Amino acid sequence: MTDNPLTYITRPGGSVCGDIRLPGDKSISHRSIMLGALAQGVTEVDGFLEGKDALATLQAFRAMGVRIDGPHNGRVTIYGVGLHGLKSPTAPLYLGNAGTAMRLMAGLMAPQRFDVELTGDKSLSMRPMRRVVEPLRDMGAVIETSPEGYPPLTIRGGCLLKGLSYDMPMASAQVKSCLLLAGLYVKGEVSVTEPSVTRDHTERMLRGFGYPVTVEGHRVTISGGGVLRATAVDIPADISSAAFFMVAASIAPDADLLLRHVGVNPTRTGVIDILRLMGADITITNERLVGGEPTADIRVRSANLKGIDIPKTLVSRAIDEFPVLFVAAASADGVTVLRGAEELRVKESDRIQLMVDGLQALGVDAQSLPDGIEISGGEMDGATIESGGDHRIAMAFSVAGLLAKGEVIIRECRQVATSFPNFVELADSVGFRLQMIEEV
Ligand code: S3P
Repeated sequence: MTDNPLTYITRPGGSVCGDIRLPGDKSISHRSIMLGALAQGVTEVDGFLEGKDALATLQAFRAMGVRIDGPHNGRVTIYGVGLHGLKSPTAPLYLGNAGTAMRLMAGLMAPQRFDVELTGDKSLSMRPMRRVVEPLRDMGAVIETSPEGYPPLTIRGGCLLKGLSYDMPMASAQVKSCLLLAGLYVKGEVSVTEPSVTRDHTERMLRGFGYPVTVEGHRVTISGGGVLRATAVDIPADISSAAFFMVAASIAPDADLLLRHVGVNPTRTGVIDILRLMGADITITNERLVGGEPTADIRVRSANLKGIDIPKTLVSRAIDEFPVLFVAAASADGVTVLRGAEELRVKESDRIQLMVDGLQALGVDAQSLPDGIEISGGEMDGATIESGGDHRIAMAFSVAGLLAKGEVIIRECRQVATSFPNFVELADSVGFRLQMIEEV
């Protein structure tokens, strides 16, 4: 694979029909490597996402002496070294575009005996880290960031961490997970209270590895001193990747799409709730629990979507899906308003600004609000769109291309490989007219 710029071009007239399985969940893939590496025994993972972000986590643990075989068709075998078995890496750990890797690993690295430096690409190097560094420092960690609070993170080894009771100022599963993972090493307990519900994959997977976690309302507590025991992890398809296809099938004419084995953890299903409020035709079948995570098949058919005021209570449960939900809003009848979503400005890009700019380029009436967006649905023209190197912006505009009257040219699509390496192939397999052009 090269790093040459990659452009997507969509042509009008695509359709969305078929029966597909999407790649594995990114959040769960990261966590499977982390807990598998620190467990006692051999962990077998199935459905691992072979995207750049999760592979960066895998490489980081290899660099700390963990034997990891694979991935081969989504199967990874991790030979756990136990909570105290990691070795000092010989170079900084490069985590690419992966905010989840950096924030969760900050919590795992702070209590180790060795020093470590965590670095990332241009986008990750502009993402706020004080949200994890400050509470970790309160626990006794010694961590340095850039003066603005950005990576690289330089983490000093040999610090004994103490317990913490923390009221999280923002709804962030990454911050919550960072502190819970640091809690594996404390004398005492770590307890995190979140302002609204965020994804609970860390809590579920810790339990799957035999480690007790207590949840009371919005407060999660873990005590140090336990042991992680290797287990089998079966990773469902990522609902955040499914979201692109759910919106595509909702807005394209005569669409009928079945998405198999998708993770439908209730902390992640805000996208389904929002689309249903907009009038989407979504049926969920075959619901089951796979390795502690709710999983189901999702059928989506064309519908006439209408604009809505998105309830604030759904924001943290749909946080990664807003770029494509804005495309749904752009094709709906009436006005859609989102508030209370300022976190979108500090994702892989400022997702509010890039979506407003791109939608306006397509001729849509979209306005940026400090903490959200207002979109009046209407027709979309062709245009050239800057994705800002953000995977979800690039995929969202590929979906817009289904309805645009002309070609949509989307620039800087290389990072789609961080979360969805076979996006173009799968999109074309269900009827998108999407082409990839690599500059040489
Ligand atoms: C993630 C949490 C979310 C999400 C990210 C993955 C995780 O970030 O946006 O893509 O795996 O914990 P925040 O916790 O910063 O909201």
